[in-house]
Amino acid sequence: MVISSRNISARGDLRLVVSIYGGELFMSGVFSPARAKIKERTLRTDKWWLQPLITFAVLFSFIIYATFRAFENANYFVEPLISPFYSPCLSQACVAGSTIAGFTPVSAHILNFALSPALIILIFPLGFRMTCYYYRKAYYRAFWLSPPACAVAEPHEKYTGETRAPLIFQNAHRWFFYAGLVFNVFLTYDAIISFKNAEGQWGHMSVGSLVLLVSSSLLWFYSLSCHTCRHTVGGRLKHFSKHPVRYKLWTWVSILNHKHQQFAWYSLAAVAFADIYVRQVASGAWTNFYFF
Ligand code: FES
Repeated sequence: MVISSRNISARGDLRLVVSIYGGELFMSGVFSPARAKIKERTLRTDKWWLQPLITFAVLFSFIIYATFRAFENANYFVEPLISPFYSPCLSQACVAGSTIAGFTPVSAHILNFALSPALIILIFPLGFRMTCYYYRKAYYRAFWLSPPACAVAEPHEKYTGETRAPLIFQNAHRWFFYAGLVFNVFLTYDAIISFKNAEGQWGHMSVGSLVLLVSSSLLWFYSLSCHTCRHTVGGRLKHFSKHPVRYKLWTWVSILNHKHQQFAWYSLAAVAFADIYVRQVASGAWTNFYFF
């Protein structure tokens, strides 16, 4: 048996590694032999549990609502507004007017199961958020208590990082980032289209126009502040001086990157509200008020 410590974590944690006959066991948290021999899980006396609790409540509520909406398959379009949960609408089951130039390459049914148009595209925005570096930190803490908060020992006996399935798929974040950019283009298109009236004439603005505009703008801020975006524009360079354009882009993205956590929450709230708004208008519960 060989005991050594080294930095193995993507989070930068220094972990104790016990190698047994070529295999490795990561001793961590309250079970770590290197931890001070105290009974308490933490010596913190503040409300350290409040933040993970709020995170859990908000994310869990969003998951429940988004799941309900993805399967509802109704009330997602009312001229000229479309819910971001259903855009782009690619199914042959999409209601009239909700598609882009009638492009519907996906069948309305799979094995006699009526497929909601939201389920066709859900994997992309969902994958983008699930693999986001910030959300990973948030839901690892809130859902898996790994760890629940700074200086609070996690209850798990073993730590394997993101080195095996399913967490190794977090490395797909780069590809979800690219897909997210494509979706942002579609949602921006939806926001522009919303400056029509219900008869399809340009030059009008409603509350729905503002709702979709804010939602799509915050999604751009969320994407452009992404760590992958920062690496894409400024990573793998030895000399910024030889790449002035990429350096400039990197400095701009770096400014946004400092606010990535805020953009993550703001954009989530804005997308959820945009869907709620379109649903309420489409169902007739609310009136989409026009300014002009
Ligand atoms: S790190 Fe959060 S979206 Fe990329």
